[in-house]
Amino acid sequence: MRPARQALAALAVLALITGALGFKEHEFKKCKTASFCDRNRGQARGGTYRVDPASLALSGPELRAALLNSAAPGVALNLTLRAYGGGVVRLIVDEPGAGRYHVPDILLPDLESRAEDWQAAASDRGAWRASAGPAAVELSFSPFKLTLSVGGAPAAVVNSRSLFGFEHRRNKTDSDPAGWWDETFLSHPDSKPRGPEAISLDLAFPGAARVYGIPERATNLALAPTAGAEPYRLYNLDVFEYLEHSPFGLYGSIPFMLAHRAGLTVGAFWLNAAEMFVDLETTRAGPATQWVAESGALDLFLLPGPGPADVAAQYAALTGPTAMPQMFAIGYHQCRWNYKDEADVAEVDAGFDDHAIPYDVIWLDIEHTVGKRYMTWDSSLFPDPKKMQDDVASRGRKMVTIVDPHVKRDAGYPIHKEASEKGYYVRNKDGREFDGWCWPGSSSYLDVTNPEVRSWWAQQFALDKYQGSTPNLYIWNDMNEPSVFNGPEVTMPKDALHHGDWEHRDIHNIFGYYYHLATSEGLALRGRAVHGSDGDRPFVLSRAFFAGTQRVGPIWTGDNAAQWSHLKVSIPMLLTLGVTGLPYSGADVGGFFGNPDVELLTRWYQVGAYYPFFRGHAHLETQRREPWLFGDDATARIRAAIRGRYALLPYMYTLFRHANLTGAPVMRPLWYEFPSNAAVFEEEAAFMLGPALLVAPVLAAGVDHVDAPLPRESQWYESVSGQAMRAAPPAAGADQAVRVGVHMEGIPVFYRGGHIVPRRDRPRRSTAQQARDPFTLVVALDWEGSAKGDLYVDDGRSFAFRRGIYAHRSFEFEGGRLRCAAATAAAGAPPGRLSTDLAIERIVVLGLPQGREWEAILTPAAGKPRRLPAARGGADAGLDPKQGAAVVVRAGRVPVGADWEIEFREAGPARS
Ligand code: NOJ
Repeated sequence: MRPARQALAALAVLALITGALGFKEHEFKKCKTASFCDRNRGQARGGTYRVDPASLALSGPELRAALLNSAAPGVALNLTLRAYGGGVVRLIVDEPGAGRYHVPDILLPDLESRAEDWQAAASDRGAWRASAGPAAVELSFSPFKLTLSVGGAPAAVVNSRSLFGFEHRRNKTDSDPAGWWDETFLSHPDSKPRGPEAISLDLAFPGAARVYGIPERATNLALAPTAGAEPYRLYNLDVFEYLEHSPFGLYGSIPFMLAHRAGLTVGAFWLNAAEMFVDLETTRAGPATQWVAESGALDLFLLPGPGPADVAAQYAALTGPTAMPQMFAIGYHQCRWNYKDEADVAEVDAGFDDHAIPYDVIWLDIEHTVGKRYMTWDSSLFPDPKKMQDDVASRGRKMVTIVDPHVKRDAGYPIHKEASEKGYYVRNKDGREFDGWCWPGSSSYLDVTNPEVRSWWAQQFALDKYQGSTPNLYIWNDMNEPSVFNGPEVTMPKDALHHGDWEHRDIHNIFGYYYHLATSEGLALRGRAVHGSDGDRPFVLSRAFFAGTQRVGPIWTGDNAAQWSHLKVSIPMLLTLGVTGLPYSGADVGGFFGNPDVELLTRWYQVGAYYPFFRGHAHLETQRREPWLFGDDATARIRAAIRGRYALLPYMYTLFRHANLTGAPVMRPLWYEFPSNAAVFEEEAAFMLGPALLVAPVLAAGVDHVDAPLPRESQWYESVSGQAMRAAPPAAGADQAVRVGVHMEGIPVFYRGGHIVPRRDRPRRSTAQQARDPFTLVVALDWEGSAKGDLYVDDGRSFAFRRGIYAHRSFEFEGGRLRCAAATAAAGAPPGRLSTDLAIERIVVLGLPQGREWEAILTPAAGKPRRLPAARGGADAGLDPKQGAAVVVRAGRVPVGADWEIEFREAGPARS
């Protein structure tokens, strides 16, 4: 690198470290400065497209046809239409012989075996029609249009506005417009050897009320129209000091959108890893969108729903459900850039115990390495990393180290030496090793699109390769967009070359996924080497992501700031990730940049305790902010928030099992649970944790009340007082918000009537110490006096659950009786055969008539009935006993694994 560039790059690094400079809008492209977007946005290019009826060929699940373009008579595109189970429809449009990139390794390998024959296929002069499960499809010939109908009405329509466009392959001529064969952004040239190759997709959702999805950006849950503004962008970027409420794309991309109205939710997923812009317009017929991708093929899946959970399951059937996390991984994680040395780690670890705050994992950022050579330890700071890890592990805890995808170009660094010798790096357009600037200085990037490189990378995590690592060490992949400080828009040039000579342009949005995948495979290999065939579930946190990342591991929302607005926007960001198939996600608690005041920090812990991934993290230059550094009151409040999280872990782990089986989100928007209630379609402050808890957070300073939007369909119980919020169902149209006073001790959380929540209420140091603890069941009755719930348990660590070594129990309260039985095994999962000796020690019932005493009679499947002590109370289950709202049964040790029934009987008037 020339000295001037070196100085510039060093300056960029400095700016990133100091956090001195804010978001620099001009350093990033907009639609106008991305030629493919500029020339396609809002306009139909290349004439009219029509399907040639003579070309139609139907074979089982697949229809093929030629798609012709009036402006390019010599070009016939291949159109393929396939049907899958549940009415999922796939539209592929490609140009024969053009060699366009089709994204591999995202769809589940058995997908094609699940294709289903089209039903009732018929065509006339104008269209081809067929049905697939609950969906009906009409392919209109001229102009080309594809309509997916659900319940007899069009729900998703391709090309209704004739904005479809496909830039076919061509030879360069002197009269070609600027931007076709090269373009320059700021000082970065982009040679485009294949010329223009963008695809414009016109996709409308007739009748839909709102659209959601296409992460990642810091903006509203319900997507706002883009007329007169920038389109939404999907391009994985390391955006320094990102802004809330911006259409700008952040670190990850999932080209998946949901369209919703009362009675119908549908989804659209375009499998394409190139840069994409998406416009949204609200037309009279409903939301209409235009998606423009720079390259690749059109490979579009339409998901017919009809409910939000159906769309989640359909998407999971394409790209896979969430990997089941280990129990420790959903506990609390303590991170900062940086825990300085072994003494610092020991002190922080002890600090948690000294202050009786549970936590599970302590993290090390980039400074623990020798000059940012990942998988090395700076021996002056970390002389005995194994001892340090063993020490942390002796209290049942884990450690995480950071491993980034840039490799320091230092011949003395074995990883670089071997990767370079083996030709494993991404190449620049001239075929030489790509050399970019990142934390270590001059760096190269492993070409993880190559399966051989991924498998080599995975082997680096073996205990004998990664010196100083132990089986209790897990990994954090950062900067994998990839971040290149001196590259265009802080990433890799689009004409850099990957395996198979694909340009970076084609694979950009999938690069981070591949790196994450290879790392996770490394931990899976290590797990099998250490523990045998049941292995050890990997834990690898990633910043970049794509569709399919949910099968690999969690992500977090990157470099937020210690501001109320960033706490607030974290909720729609995580909710969006949840409904686009990536539920295991979180935001840096406290805010990465800057120093939160004690009120913001406290509130952030109170909200973060409900994030699916819960980690405190802070920038290098921030003041220390371990939970006990802000005085006794704050320590007590943060302790209560984190303990609250640990109490809910049985419920959360069960929710993760559902995500693992069906793709259901863990943290859910209200509309997901109340899809017919239009008043909550835009709600993005309050959210659901699973089906049973509603969290109404405090998102501003000095707040003394919250208007909790409690959907009218359900009864709700305030989680501390146990008080029922409504005596009877409110009338349709009545205001649903209920004003509740707040204090600094916590945020309002409500149990939903009709649900049963399993908890563990004994305060412990970490999840390891909870593993044998008995459970509490909170039974929140609906207006009819019924409730349902479930509890999933396994070893919390290995893959043995895949062999059926788990117990999944269901609870049902009806007619005054609570029954425990085996939950029905989910489709595709082996029945649970773990005979657990875990027990329930307490049952808390909310919603039994007040002013009465109750008794409880336990009838085991075998054995005599016996009376269990029952009284009004609840202090040991997080409830205020003074309120008298809860009936608490001391169950002793009622087995989780056995079938039983508990009958509740009135035992006379309340004793005062
Ligand atoms: C950027 C990441 O987003 C941040 O979390 C991390 O602390 C720094 N890189 C340093 O590794």
